[in-house]
Amino acid sequence: METSSNCISKQFSTCFLLLGLMLLFADGISFANAKTHHHNFVVQATKVKRLCKTHNAITVNGQFPGPTLDVNNGDTLVINVVNKARYNVTFHWHGVRQMRTAWADGPEFITQCPIRPGGSYTYRFRIQGQEGTLWWHAHSSWLRATVYGALIIRPREGESYPFAKPNHETPILLGEWWDANPIDVIREATRTGAAPNISNAYTINGQPGDLYNCSIKGTTIVPVNSGESILLRVINSALNQQLFFTIANHKFTVVGADASYVKPFTTSVLMLGPGQTTDVLIKSDQPPARYYMAARAYASAQGAPFDNTTTTAILKYNSIPCKSHCNSSKPIMPTLPAFNDTRTASAFTKSFRSPRKVEVPTDIDENLFITVGLGLLNCPKGSRARNCQGPNGTRFTASMNNVSFILPSNFSLLQAHHQGIPGVFTTDFPAAPPVKFDYTGNVSRSLWQPIRGTKVYNLKFGSKVQVVLQGTSIFTAENHPIHLHGYDFYIIAEGFGNFNPKTDTAKFNLIDPPLRNTASLPVNGWTVIRFVADNPGVWIMHCHLDVHIGWGLAMVFVVDNGVGELQTLDAPPTDLPVC
Ligand code: C2O
Repeated sequence: METSSNCISKQFSTCFLLLGLMLLFADGISFANAKTHHHNFVVQATKVKRLCKTHNAITVNGQFPGPTLDVNNGDTLVINVVNKARYNVTFHWHGVRQMRTAWADGPEFITQCPIRPGGSYTYRFRIQGQEGTLWWHAHSSWLRATVYGALIIRPREGESYPFAKPNHETPILLGEWWDANPIDVIREATRTGAAPNISNAYTINGQPGDLYNCSIKGTTIVPVNSGESILLRVINSALNQQLFFTIANHKFTVVGADASYVKPFTTSVLMLGPGQTTDVLIKSDQPPARYYMAARAYASAQGAPFDNTTTTAILKYNSIPCKSHCNSSKPIMPTLPAFNDTRTASAFTKSFRSPRKVEVPTDIDENLFITVGLGLLNCPKGSRARNCQGPNGTRFTASMNNVSFILPSNFSLLQAHHQGIPGVFTTDFPAAPPVKFDYTGNVSRSLWQPIRGTKVYNLKFGSKVQVVLQGTSIFTAENHPIHLHGYDFYIIAEGFGNFNPKTDTAKFNLIDPPLRNTASLPVNGWTVIRFVADNPGVWIMHCHLDVHIGWGLAMVFVVDNGVGELQTLDAPPTDLPVC
């Protein structure tokens, strides 16, 4: 049995006793070899040089990207966060179900108040029934630009992957870099109401790659021998951009996404929205050489500015026949889809299936229809123009069902819910938009201004929920990666235009739809998801483009307790930060 890091430093005997006790009390079926992993995450300013300039980036333990968490299904994680930075921070374990442990979920002002500078908080949770790749990131302002890392979940000890064991594995974290302090970038945009500056580079495992200035040194290299199979755990940890990813002359076999296995399929290009992960196998079956792996934007919004640069890493065959020039010749460059190639993006997201027949909830108790899109707030007359630098003197906003979500500031929603504190939120989030309109057509200007509020939607424990997510073309239509905390959901259908229950229900896949935590809502289109509300707590559903969260593209489900201990939210940890 692996001893946890804390155990190494403590008395050996005490450690064994503690581990033994924990095993005895493990709930449900006992997992003889489940482990507990202890980690310290020190949040701190760290000098990081990229694109010719050094910035004081906020990191975990001085690492960028942050430490990889490597666990087995069934294991427990205990992560003590110490905030030595000058910003508030919280941590989210993206995609972890957090059964009954909503207190450890992390979104700021939703499940906890921020960890203040100088403060600390210990996140405790268990991985239950999830295998594959997830990740963790800060969930406060734009800190996750540099505060993120991989969370690898292997099968339980003694169990194996549902595919031949690869020779190597490596996480591929796609990121986004500002040649500035990202917190200043978002603060400035919040002040002016304009769109924030776009990024200056994308990164692979923290490195932009050699197509950028001053970036040859440090380019990520993945070495391979000929004839091997390699598992790449691709994570889109970029802040605001959906990305295409490909490798020159190599095909991917997709085997998992968002820590669920999928029916394997092959493709030469991936598209991931921020928040999504995709596990792929590749074979080193090409002539020994250096091949670029590359990522660049899938930019679905017409006319909106975006970072059009390309990040690269190098897949390097160890056996390159080497006559001194082996490192000087350029690696082979793949072709990437056009920035606006919605057809390729949609063909990719529609290829996902569960490996076998699954139990999709039927007899739906809660049927929600949620519009998702941007908006523009008119500025009150006489307001200072410097706060209204959005299009035509407005401020950018975004909403779900015309409600632009406002975070509370005095209590977290979970605390308010758990302790019955009134006045923090209202339970009137609407199950449908207040007005029906042609969502993907030319929308009347009178519908561009949402209302603002902290509105939640209440769900009884165990209710079967369907949500139709409908994109709008207000201001500009675009693809939105919609992420639900605390749950995986089945994506049973997606399409373009307005969702039509009369004809589109026939397209529902109730046999083998994929299980995800983040859905790519097609530009000018819709997606239908289903889940069972079996996890009590307060769970935010939001667009994973951070620029849109700040504008209010979020809503919250409050899921009641059921009966009995296994259906009841745990008591809050004693060190839970308060506001
Ligand atoms: Cu990666 Cu609120 O999520």
